[in-house]
Amino acid sequence: MCGIFGYVGKDNNVGNLILEGLKTLEYRGYDSWGIAVKNGKTIEIEKKVGKIGDPKLRFPKSSIGIGHTRWATHGGVTVENAHPHLDCSRKIAVLHNGIIENFEELKKELLEQGHKFVSETDTEVMPHLIEEGLKKEGFASSVRDAFNRLKGLNAIVALNADSSEIIAAKTGSPLVIGVSDDGYYISSDSLGLVPHTRNLLFLEDNEMVILGKTLKLISLPRGEEKTPDIQTVDWKFEKVDKGKYKHFLLKEINEQPQVVENIALNYETEVKNLADLIDEAFGTFLLGCGTASYSGLAGTYLFSKIAKKHVNFSIGSEFNYLEDYLTPKSLVIPISQSGETIDVVEPVARAKQKGSRIAAITNVLGSTLYRQSDFKILLGAGPEKAVVGTKSFTAMVAVLLFTAYTLAKRQAEGKKMLSLAAENVSEILKNHVGENIQKLAATLKNREHIYVIGRGISYATALEATLKIKETACLHAEGFAGGELKHGVIALIEKGTPCIVIAPNDETYDDIISNAQEVKARGGIIIGIGPRPNKVFDHFLQTADVAEATIIPQVVVAQLLAYYLALARGIEDPDKPRNLAKSVTVK
Ligand code: G6P
Repeated sequence: MCGIFGYVGKDNNVGNLILEGLKTLEYRGYDSWGIAVKNGKTIEIEKKVGKIGDPKLRFPKSSIGIGHTRWATHGGVTVENAHPHLDCSRKIAVLHNGIIENFEELKKELLEQGHKFVSETDTEVMPHLIEEGLKKEGFASSVRDAFNRLKGLNAIVALNADSSEIIAAKTGSPLVIGVSDDGYYISSDSLGLVPHTRNLLFLEDNEMVILGKTLKLISLPRGEEKTPDIQTVDWKFEKVDKGKYKHFLLKEINEQPQVVENIALNYETEVKNLADLIDEAFGTFLLGCGTASYSGLAGTYLFSKIAKKHVNFSIGSEFNYLEDYLTPKSLVIPISQSGETIDVVEPVARAKQKGSRIAAITNVLGSTLYRQSDFKILLGAGPEKAVVGTKSFTAMVAVLLFTAYTLAKRQAEGKKMLSLAAENVSEILKNHVGENIQKLAATLKNREHIYVIGRGISYATALEATLKIKETACLHAEGFAGGELKHGVIALIEKGTPCIVIAPNDETYDDIISNAQEVKARGGIIIGIGPRPNKVFDHFLQTADVAEATIIPQVVVAQLLAYYLALARGIEDPDKPRNLAKSVTVK
């Protein structure tokens, strides 16, 4: 989703510096980009649709500039809608991440005052509001007053041709300031800052920062000065490339044995602490979106079966409407690869206000959720570059499973299950199952729909499998609980309809096989994933039986199927599926 990068300081090659910064934000997902640099008393702008690639920039020498990668919300993917946006005098340039909920009302007012708009974006109101403000007050006060008028969760950065300062403010969406000897950097995340400096200031909501010769932090709405808490981090950021793999997605699928094994070997203390928090809490709630949400759903089954503990689950965007039950005794466990998903961050902030304890499970050190939480577990999966989650999912499930076993005082068993699951994933990745999956993908590539069924924890597996197929192969897939089949969906089954059956060797086996028979009787083609072959399967993708951890190899098989389906369907870049973003910072 939108990425922000800016610089003010001594380096006078700011155009290239920002371009490199934007490249570090590419993984978030975007459809257009733009850079503005200050040139004397004017602003020079370059905006483009599509990927950054290797553009020839014609920027003059300058040491103040800002850049943006845009993921369209208001207005199509056009050069006009790309950021930065300018005011009428072309002296103010603004970047934005978020949604200005009252932009129509503000735009109407500005149009009545004679301002001219060139884009369809909500963002464009901001430079014009600042332009109005400058008629009566200075740059910083104009930005503050303009920003205070915005409704919604927003982060903005403003540049003024008549000033040597960059000003940023936020009520949502991450912004991190890098403080170095040569100047100040600003970015949507710390990844792009660490090559320049390890002194970071994480801007909190309702803060504004003025970066120029010095750094000044003020609180919003009123503008009292605050002392910045600049932290020196010693994080190691690995520079990742695709190595021998054609795509990050395939590389990350292949990294899963190490990721799961790492949790089995090194997470005893972390999961013990989380298990204690769950034990003490009066009501535990798992939250997540997309892939992370299915790990949460799987978690409810794991805690019930292994630890005999009722743990609630909600998708992040719905939790706002359920939080009335929260008390200071509740424990909220947000699960998020990026740690930035606004649909998780926002309800967590509200839960905190209610006094509930927060224990985050995230993959990104220093992310908003990481900083918001009282207790945190890092997934240790390493950077996940492909938009669709793979290794983060298996890591989330591994942490939840290990915690459930620990809560049941069977930690050694949980550890063993995870190690066996990691071993089986290695085999799946090495041996012929990969081949079978490719052949199967070729036979399925022209289908319009694929159904996936499962019961118990495999209901979560089914939903995650369908999400992988939808996101990666852009093919309609629907997952549902096997028992629901005859309550509606069976009407859609006809001759040749593919139906994937998630069949672990557990208490759901007989019933899910009966459901598979019902589909087969109506002409469906049955693809079984699990340890036990069965006559009903037309295709069979075998995994080991590793008790509750069987979900891990089963999901890996589904990930591979989605990847090869994407290739078979001619998807150009499975790492960046159309319309999706890795870090979803708007509601
Ligand atoms: C986006 C991605 C999904 C991801 C979801 C949650 O929608 O496209 O693949 O699962 O965000 O991301 P998170 O970083 O919170 O795990």
